[in-house]
Amino acid sequence: MTSKKVVLSQQDIAARVAELGGEISARYEGRPLVLIGVLNGAFIFMADLARALSMEVALDFVRVASYGMSSSSSGTISLSKDVELDVSGKDVLLVEDIVDSGRTLAWLKDFFSQKGAASVRICTLIDKKERRQVAVEVDFCGFVIEQGFLVGYGLDWAERYRNLPAVYHLEDPAF
Ligand code: IMP
Ligand code: MG
Repeated sequence: MTSKKVVLSQQDIAARVAELGGEISARYEGRPLVLIGVLNGAFIFMADLARALSMEVALDFVRVASYGMSSSSSGTISLSKDVELDVSGKDVLLVEDIVDSGRTLAWLKDFFSQKGAASVRICTLIDKKERRQVAVEVDFCGFVIEQGFLVGYGLDWAERYRNLPAVYHLEDPAF
């Protein structure tokens, strides 16, 4: 039997996203930014974050094929959807729901650097620092949460729960 416990309320998330928007806007000092969301998980966070930024923003998305229905990412990463925007010479901010092993974002950071972006930074709603296996610098982080499997506000378990407005800890998921 699976049960859920709230770890981040809608209010917690809204307040922190507003702060992050301020931090990011200040850091780029008004320069235009290309936001690249990692599908599917980042779609809700990206929508809220984009509206909290004060500079001119272009948006695009990638989709990474590696995670599937399992609870940790595999070693092999490839894109099932690339961006359509030309990012060369642009400041890119990768927007992710959660960083776990770090493999996905380390790979994406390298991928966009190779496309010739002027800078590639990372913004994640949640950082599960304790579980990091690949070193990756997170530039902007909403919350650090050490434990457990989280769902809601874009985060899924087997494509379920993405639409929940808060973030929950999934207790006893039947992996
Ligand atoms: P990483 O490559 O291990 O850092 O994988 C990050 C990806 O794993 C995220 O984009 C999520 O899709 C997924 N993930 C990791 N932890 C969780 C979680 O607690 N809930 C939902 N998805 C997760
Ligand atoms: Mg994801």
